[in-house]
Amino acid sequence: MAKVPVQFTLNGEEMAEFVESGTTLLKALREKIGDMSVKGGCHQGTCGSCSVIIDGDLRLSCLTLAETCDDAAIETTAGLARGGVLHPLQRAFHEGFAAQCGFCTPGMLMAAKALLDRNPSPSREDVIDAIGGNVCRCTGYEPIIQAILSAARANSVNAA
Ligand code: FES
Ligand code: FES
Repeated sequence: MAKVPVQFTLNGEEMAEFVESGTTLLKALREKIGDMSVKGGCHQGTCGSCSVIIDGDLRLSCLTLAETCDDAAIETTAGLARGGVLHPLQRAFHEGFAAQCGFCTPGMLMAAKALLDRNPSPSREDVIDAIGGNVCRCTGYEPIIQAILSAARANSVNAA
């Protein structure tokens, strides 16, 4: 299989790699770059666990070819905490007992971040809609919804 050069930023850091044509971004991030914060669940676009943000949009890395990400700005949960300080969403998930397993939570966090980046004061319906593609088989979604709303409230207090 032909190798293709691809350059992008990952959580603000410049990356340059050769990937085999047809490699998914999920595989490239985990196996070539070592960003294990991105999780593969279904590998067919139905669970949301592999969600990342590409140029501001929430995308499924299992359905995205790495070679299409040239010049893109990619964000994953590995880049959420800065300088050892949790992102407000991570703090809200932690304090609200919204995270249970490591598979669904990274995708939930990225879906929530994509929402708050474009809509800092979402309604409950906005939140439910934003995480509609993210499946959790065990928690029930209420603590997750509450954590996202709580992070939005904390952000608006901090911004005031
Ligand atoms: S692993 Fe990508 S949607 Fe499930
Ligand atoms: S807590 Fe991760 S799938 Fe339910």
